Amino acid sequence: MLKWLGGLIDSNEKQVQRLQPLVDEINELEPDFAKLSDAELRAKTDEFKARLKDGCSLDDLLPEAFATVREAAQRTIHQRHFDVQLLGGIVLHQGKIAEMKTGEGKTLVATLPLYLNALSGQGCHLVTVNDYLAKRDHHWMGPIYHALGISVASIQHEAAFIYDTTYESADQRWTFLRPVSRREAYQADITYGTNNEFGFDYLRDNMVVDLAQCVQRPLNYAIVDEVDNILIDEARTPLIISGQAEKAEKQYQTFARSIPHLRPRIDYTVDEKHRAVSLTESGTSQMETLLKKEGLLKTPNLYDPDSYSLTRYLDSALKAHVLYKRDRDYVVKDGQVIIVDEFTGRLMPGRRYSEGLHQAIEAKERVNVQHESMTFATITFQNYFRMYDKLAGMTGTALTEAEEFFKIYQLEVVVIPTNAPMIRQDSPDRIYKDEKSKFKAVVNEVQELYQQKRPVLIGTVSIEKSEVLSDLLKKKGVPHQVLNAR
Ligand SMILES: Nc1ncnc2c1ncn2[C@@H]1O[C@H](COP(=O)(O)OP(=O)(O)OP(=O)(O)O)[C@@H](O)[C@H]1O
Ligand SMILES: [Mg+2]
Repeated sequence: MLKWLGGLIDSNEKQVQRLQPLVDEINELEPDFAKLSDAELRAKTDEFKARLKDGCSLDDLLPEAFATVREAAQRTIHQRHFDVQLLGGIVLHQGKIAEMKTGEGKTLVATLPLYLNALSGQGCHLVTVNDYLAKRDHHWMGPIYHALGISVASIQHEAAFIYDTTYESADQRWTFLRPVSRREAYQADITYGTNNEFGFDYLRDNMVVDLAQCVQRPLNYAIVDEVDNILIDEARTPLIISGQAEKAEKQYQTFARSIPHLRPRIDYTVDEKHRAVSLTESGTSQMETLLKKEGLLKTPNLYDPDSYSLTRYLDSALKAHVLYKRDRDYVVKDGQVIIVDEFTGRLMPGRRYSEGLHQAIEAKERVNVQHESMTFATITFQNYFRMYDKLAGMTGTALTEAEEFFKIYQLEVVVIPTNAPMIRQDSPDRIYKDEKSKFKAVVNEVQELYQQKRPVLIGTVSIEKSEVLSDLLKKKGVPHQVLNAR
């Protein structure tokens, strides 16, 4: 393990060295770019876009594009990208993870690859861990993009904004952030937002019946901030859209009544291997006649957008009728449909088939159709982020998870040196066997520091924990303040 890590660090140094000529090239451009007027600097964007159309690659444009962003940042927010920040930007453009220590200015670093990749016009996403950071970074970096004619937006849980210097914001903290629709925010060259919002927008887009209602564009390039948090810790967290707003007994019952009129092989076909049933043309028209008679179908065809929601009941009713057999797959007992485990043959009370199938079987067996929430769409963060054409990430700590990043996402980690020598002492985590011994050690350490007259700041995960700790400190006679939501 150590040897493997050693090898990794070694090759890391080489990798960083290999990027140095690019950094030198950007630096050499600086005096010339500094002479440009604001308008000439702004015109660079159109020039790059034109060259891209003429067959130039993003890689070819990198040195000039980065020099442009650095110059714009200096003129607008008065920060000049350090050389190590250029290194970080190159790594992000290459679709890798840049490990940069906390406070090294990753927010500013991201502007370099975001600008470069935005030139293709296909949209770039900067993913943050919370709504506040998305808005803050959008607002903070906005002037740089604006100076270069690149549109930038942010999405929030219930709002979206675009950076617009002609907009007079009522809220002085968020000057120039004009509210827009989500769709408009995704049309921007660059969009800041959280993993949750990007993921849920993707799911919602998958549920629309009309393409015009989609808000996202194809997933092109994403930089994930605090990438270990989002891509490792939360990788398997599923995003789920569920609901059961409408009362659906009537639908289930109508379908359960209608399906037995269909003739096997003529009106529907069965794919035993995939456990799927599908209607034939004659089956479809038969169903349409039946459903119209029942007053359930109000459009000419079952597959018209306005009737599309009915096909869900159709699918589950067909399956319930054709594939699921009483006393083999399930039993009916005391007015309940109980699943039989297909391997052990045991009854499994309380377990329910998903996606409306259980209700369809209840309707078929004429027992009470139960209400239940239903999953309409779901995806894990892991699967969502793997859909981007290019993925990159940045964080203070990635090397320890380098193997996982590579296995799951084919993402390499490159450690970027700090701008100035590190003087902050980053202590490793200390792990205790249980919470009691942990708090005991904390209290002892605080007491020691208190005697040396050194101030201590303690963060806890919850209000309760902060109060537990406060009690322990009180017992030891250590004076302190508690700041929590109470
Ligand atoms: N090139 C620069 N010149 C001057 N100040 C800079 C520069 N780059 C970053 N900073 C400043 O450094 C501070 C830290 O930046 P930032 O929050 O982006 O760091 P970070 O790497 O994202 O840290 P964290 O890991 O805590 O998120 C900010 O106040 C920022 O303005
Ligand atoms: Mg940061």
